[in-house]
Amino acid sequence: MATISSIRTSGNRVEIIDQLLLPRTQEWIEIDTIEKAYEAIKSMKIRGAPAIGSLAALSVASHISASLTQGLRPDFLSSSLEFSDHIKPLLDHLFLARLTAVNLGAALDQIRNVLDAGVESNSPVEEIAREVIKAGRAVHEIDLGQNRAMGKWGGDWIVEAVKKSGGSGEELNLMTVCNAGSLATSGYGTALGVITYLFEIRKLNKAYFIQSRPYHQGSRLTALEPMALDIPSVMVCDSMVGSLFQHHKIDAIVVGADSVVKNRDTANKIGTYNAAVLAARHKIPFLVIAPTSTIDLNTVDGSGIPVEHRPPIEARLVRGALYPATPDANGKYPQATVMVMPLEMKPEGVYNPSFDVTPAELITAIVTEKGVAVKENGVFDLENVL
Ligand code: MRU
Repeated sequence: MATISSIRTSGNRVEIIDQLLLPRTQEWIEIDTIEKAYEAIKSMKIRGAPAIGSLAALSVASHISASLTQGLRPDFLSSSLEFSDHIKPLLDHLFLARLTAVNLGAALDQIRNVLDAGVESNSPVEEIAREVIKAGRAVHEIDLGQNRAMGKWGGDWIVEAVKKSGGSGEELNLMTVCNAGSLATSGYGTALGVITYLFEIRKLNKAYFIQSRPYHQGSRLTALEPMALDIPSVMVCDSMVGSLFQHHKIDAIVVGADSVVKNRDTANKIGTYNAAVLAARHKIPFLVIAPTSTIDLNTVDGSGIPVEHRPPIEARLVRGALYPATPDANGKYPQATVMVMPLEMKPEGVYNPSFDVTPAELITAIVTEKGVAVKENGVFDLENVL
């Protein structure tokens, strides 16, 4: 099956697909500096919680590796303390690129821990540098394996749950929110990984995905992924989810997450909470699919999750390809930006939070790479999936 990926590496070279140009143009850009990684994450050229963690970690690994192999010995490699003083501000800088996704901080913390351990044990600077490179690359590699594991855990759980409630467990219809596929991760996807797994074992009928306005991660990005895999899929406008549930058999909702906190409240793309409320009303299982790197046990409940608010302009326009579209000499399609609310119209403001928080009570199950957590007496038993 032809998958779409967000990041590709070859030796020390790191490239990302520019997601701002998708779906019409597939352009790979090289990320060869920390600043380019920061800018790519901030400007949403790459987005999705695990993917931004992976790119941040890879960019640090690549920065160090390039210095080690260049033959020139930069000052920061003169001692372990100089090295640490050089790397830590880079980690702090990358951390600020996006606000809500826990994975970014978790990936950078893994590097920070390896760095601190090396300095503490007085290891030679080159040894610490090599360990840090290894840790940075591991973030990306591990994410892919975890997604496959979550796909299977979540998919098998849904089949059993449907059977328990009297269904056949065959011909399943799932709905997802935003893009939680290959493009949002190091590959395979979290929520879209569950859908892909069910398709692979021939138990999927259809995947429904919502447009995910105003940024259109659904219609611009998720739309591409099932098509590339030949998975039958249907796009739903955000305002039509209730109607979909009223008129179609939906067996489960699967969503990714940017943060799952101590009481299991979960932040994900705006529109997730709406879908969860409607799923509860229609008694449809609502599953959060997130690797343990998305879990933040230091935040007590959803009120402590920092929610990124995006610039008003993004909610005033729709970005897409210009039709009729003819590629230019370089094979690129013209991009169109259509104002749905012209600038001269000035309401008091534009409400544009990028994420919302779904309370734990509306979540049926949380799937990590280690298993599926469900509620016992109304409380999530997450300990054995951490
Ligand atoms: O603002 P984005 O596009 O980075 O938001 C992404 C999402 O909300 C995803 O659904 C989430 O990160 C889970 S990704 C596997």
